[in-house]
Amino acid sequence: MPRLEWVPGPEPKRLTEDGATQIIELFLAETGEIYSDVSIRHLPIPAWDANLILIDLDQPSPQPIQGVLWATPFKDTIVRVAAFVICETHQSKGLGNIAWERFRQIASESGYHEVQLEVKANNTGAQRFYKLRGLTVRQELVGYYQSGLGYMMRGPLNP
Ligand SMILES: CC(C)(COP(=O)(O)OP(=O)(O)OC[C@H]1O[C@@H](n2cnc3c(N)ncnc32)[C@H](O)[C@@H]1OP(=O)(O)O)[C@@H](O)C(=O)NCCC(=O)NCCS
Repeated sequence: MPRLEWVPGPEPKRLTEDGATQIIELFLAETGEIYSDVSIRHLPIPAWDANLILIDLDQPSPQPIQGVLWATPFKDTIVRVAAFVICETHQSKGLGNIAWERFRQIASESGYHEVQLEVKANNTGAQRFYKLRGLTVRQELVGYYQSGLGYMMRGPLNP
C-alpha cells in the first residue's frame, strides 16, 4: 500500500516544471479541463496553508503530484476552491475527505465562514461529495465550461 499524504503545496506560479506538467495531466485526465504551463501558473491562488498536494511518501523526492486542492479568497468571508482533483487510482478511498477536512479547518481558522466552487453539471460524483459536506447548488453557469452547463455551489465551512 502506498503511503499517500496531503502536504502543503506551492502556489501555482512557484511550481517546478515537472510539478506543473503533472498537475496539467491530472486536470486533463480527471476533469477534461485543458491547461497550459502558462495558464496554470497564472491561476490566482495565493501562498497559504490551504494549498495541498497529494504525494506518495515512499517515492524518492521530489515525489510526483497525485492530487491537488487549491483555494483562494473570494469575498470577505467566502473562500473559493479553485481546483480539487485526485488521480483516479486513489479516488474513493477517503483521501478527498482528508484534504477537505484539512482545508476546512485552515480556512475556518483564517476567518472564512463559507466555501464556494464551480462544478460541471454532469459531474454528479463531485456534486454528491460536496452536498454531503453541506454545499448546495446556488446558480447555473452557462458558458463557464466549454463542455456545457456548470453549477456554482456554496455552503458553510462548518455545516
Ligand atoms: C471529487 C474528488 C476530489 C473526491 O475525492 P475522493 O478521494 O474520491 O473522495 P472520498 O474517497 O473522500 O469520498 C468519496 C467516496 O468514497 C467513500 N470512501 C471513503 N473512504 C473510503 C474507503 N476507504 N474505501 C472506499 N470508499 C471510501 C466515501 O464514503 C465517499 O462516498 P460518499 O460520497 O458516499 O461519502 C475525487 O473523486 C476526484 O478527483 N474526482 C475527479 C475530479 C473532480 O471531479 N474534481 C472535482 C471538480 S469540481
